[in-house]
Order: sequence, then C-alpha cells, then structure tokens
Amino acid sequence: MARKIGIIGLGHVGSTVAHQIIVSGLVDDLVLIDANEEKLQADGLDYLQAMPNLATKTNIIMNDYDALRNADIIISALGNIGLEEDGNRFAEMVFNIKQVKQVSAKLKALHYPGVLIVITNPCDVITQVYQQFTGFDKHRVFGTGTMLDSARMKTIVGKEFNVDPRSVNGFNLGEHGNSQFTAWSTVSVRGHSMFELNQDGHLDLDALSKQSVVDGDKVFFGKKYTNYAIAAAATRLATIVLNDGNTEVVVSNYRPDFNNYMSYPVIVGRHGIIEDVPIDLTDDEHAKLAKSAKFISDNFNQFKD
Ligand code: 2OP
Repeated sequence: MARKIGIIGLGHVGSTVAHQIIVSGLVDDLVLIDANEEKLQADGLDYLQAMPNLATKTNIIMNDYDALRNADIIISALGNIGLEEDGNRFAEMVFNIKQVKQVSAKLKALHYPGVLIVITNPCDVITQVYQQFTGFDKHRVFGTGTMLDSARMKTIVGKEFNVDPRSVNGFNLGEHGNSQFTAWSTVSVRGHSMFELNQDGHLDLDALSKQSVVDGDKVFFGKKYTNYAIAAAATRLATIVLNDGNTEVVVSNYRPDFNNYMSYPVIVGRHGIIEDVPIDLTDDEHAKLAKSAKFISDNFNQFKD
C-alpha cells in the first residue's frame, strides 16, 4: 500500500516539513495544500528539481483535497505567522480558527480515516478545535505540542552536562507556550535523575525550565519564524505513526481530567495515541500542569464557537 501524507499550509513550517519528508523518502505520495497557488506551484517544482539528486522519489500532488481521502497522515501547518509579531502564538488564533473550521469541514466531508497531526498555533487550542469540528476520535487527533519544547530542553540540558541531547530523557508538559514547564522529576541524563545531578543546587531549575521558552523565542525573533526544529519533530512523529512505532512521545493530546488538549507523555502507534505514559509528578508539578490547563481552557472557551 502506498504511503501517503498530506500537508495543509505550506508556509515556512509546512514547506520545511514537506522538504524533510521528501529528503527522508518517508512516503510514496505527498499531498500539498495551500491557498497561495503561485507559491505552492513554485515549491512543488523546487521539490521535483531536488529529486534527481535524492535517493528516493516522492509523487507530489498539489491542491487536491480529494487526494487526502486515503492519506495515512494529514499535518496541519496552516497559519499566519505575520500576526505573531510579539511572539504571542495566540495573536494568530482568530485567523487560524476560521481556517481550521473550513479545513475541518472538508476533512469531515471526506470521512478522512487517518491520523491528524496539528502544528498550527496556538497548538493546544487549535488541536481541540480540529477534534471538535471534525468529530474524529480523540486518539487520532493530536498536536506537536511540547515535543518541540522538550527538544529545546534536551538541547539546553545536554549542553549543561556536555552530553548528546538524545541522552537526555524527560518532558516539558502543558501548553505549547509560556505556561509550559519542565517536569524535572521526569528528566534524567544517562540514567541519573536531575535531582541527583543537582543535589548541590548549582543549577537554577526554574530558570533552566524557562530557558526552553526563551530559546524558542530567540529563534523566532532572530528570523521572524521557526521551522527546522518543528519540522524535525513533526517528521519524527509522522515516521512513528507510519512505522507503528508504539513510541513514547510528549504531544498535545486530549486530557480527560482537564477536558482539553495539552502535552503529556503518551505512546503513539499506527492509528495515533494508544495510552498514557505513567509519570509520577511532584505536587508542584501537578499544580503547574493545572495552571497551564486553565490557561489553555480559558483561551479555548473564548474562541471555540
Ligand atoms: C515554535 O515554538 C512553531 O510554535 C512553534 O517554534
């Protein structure tokens, strides 16, 4: 069976995700959807012109919603980054929600059966809007969420201890935004817990937790968008789904205890989320999670209708 992914929104993020998927040879067919036809055709031709120098070939289909009908995965990367002038992901929410409702109606009409991965910001609220307006099962609609922020945390901690960031385990939880936090009780470096490594208190863990947000802002304010790290996260997620990886990841998923979407570790496989990863948070971490949940829910309730 041919492997197929659709990407809706070919701005900086979507076009980079498309490029990473093409270079990785992940799929046979790639469906690209964007309202800017001229830019889309240019990107499509640019991708085709890359293929003679790639090890694999990917069929590119452009602006054909019907071609999404049998996609394995659809990635929502639509947005209007120009509205995020001050780095506030909620600035583009009103614009994005309008687009998301239109896309949701089309996907619902297609009876799309696959997985929907949401990058569009504000990620947690938008993921919940997608789930509610498509009516798709919650397990197959999830957002990249703090998978990206956790990668930023691992980069920071890896540098602090001079280890490969892939040797840092643990999660940033909650909102993909300013109310997220690093759950240090989940963080370990080559088998040593962060609390063990910081027994002498030489690290300000609150400051280090905030650094994930600061470093994301540094990228955004330096070039007015971000794309490579988020594309790597989204492409890894798509690979896990296509390969039925049954892999532990931290993504924005439906949290029954808060009746909203936010990032918490889960196992992801071929049809989306399988189950939670049990983690034993401290009381302080539980309080931060609840605070982040409230921030997301308050914003969702403002714009859900
Ligand atoms: C970021 O933090 C795109 O919101 C995403 O880079």
